[in-house]
Amino acid sequence: MVGAAFARDAATAAYYEQRAAEYDEWYLGKGRFAVRDRPGWDGEVAELVRLVRRLEPARALDIACGSGFLTRHLRGPVVGLDRSPAMALLTRSRIPTGGTLVGDALALPFPDGSFDRLFTGHFYGHLPTDERAAFLSEADRVAGELVVVDSASRTGAPAEEWQERVLNDGSRHRIYKRYLAPARLVAELGGEVVMAGTWFVAVRAALRP
Ligand SMILES: C[S@@+](CC[C@H](N)C(=O)[O-])C[C@H]1O[C@@H](n2cnc3c(N)ncnc32)[C@H](O)[C@@H]1O
Repeated sequence: MVGAAFARDAATAAYYEQRAAEYDEWYLGKGRFAVRDRPGWDGEVAELVRLVRRLEPARALDIACGSGFLTRHLRGPVVGLDRSPAMALLTRSRIPTGGTLVGDALALPFPDGSFDRLFTGHFYGHLPTDERAAFLSEADRVAGELVVVDSASRTGAPAEEWQERVLNDGSRHRIYKRYLAPARLVAELGGEVVMAGTWFVAVRAALRP
């Protein structure tokens, strides 16, 4: 999509900084999300949490960790990284023994091979082609494995779009987003599908031989 940007977009950064305090309402079906018709949503959120908990303990970096809603379930030494200071602060409160930092997923502040696993939820699916390439290049450099959780493609949802998002104060924001079929994600990342739900899709892929 021409002009699409997410990880390098200043307006998108401001949107997530503002959204941080209300971010979990999306997962929990509260606030504006209480009126959304999302059949099976709560069960799939629980399944997603179980999937994260089941991953073997590893030195893990959660890229674009957001509020830490999923980060807190990763086992092993965990570091959360997000561009939004407000999001990073929320994650810090949820993984007090882990590390949390404000940083850019497309220019990771870590030496080569620093992690066993790179985990990322609802970030990869926002990235347009050029940002995906930059992200995967960094992922490949710092970790041996990549686990991507994202929004699943579904009937009626376009493969990609600019969405209008409304926050609790009524402010409106434009965010680039893709919805991913399991086969599509495997075609892009390799690896295997570890979750193929109505709402969420997850793929686990080796990064380096
Ligand atoms: C949709 S939220 C996902 C949060 C969480 N991972 C989850 O699964 O719920 C996207 C996150 O990406 C972060 N983000 C956007 N661009 C980034 C970048 N260049 N580097 C690191 N984080 C970024 C935002 O601040 C936001 O917290």
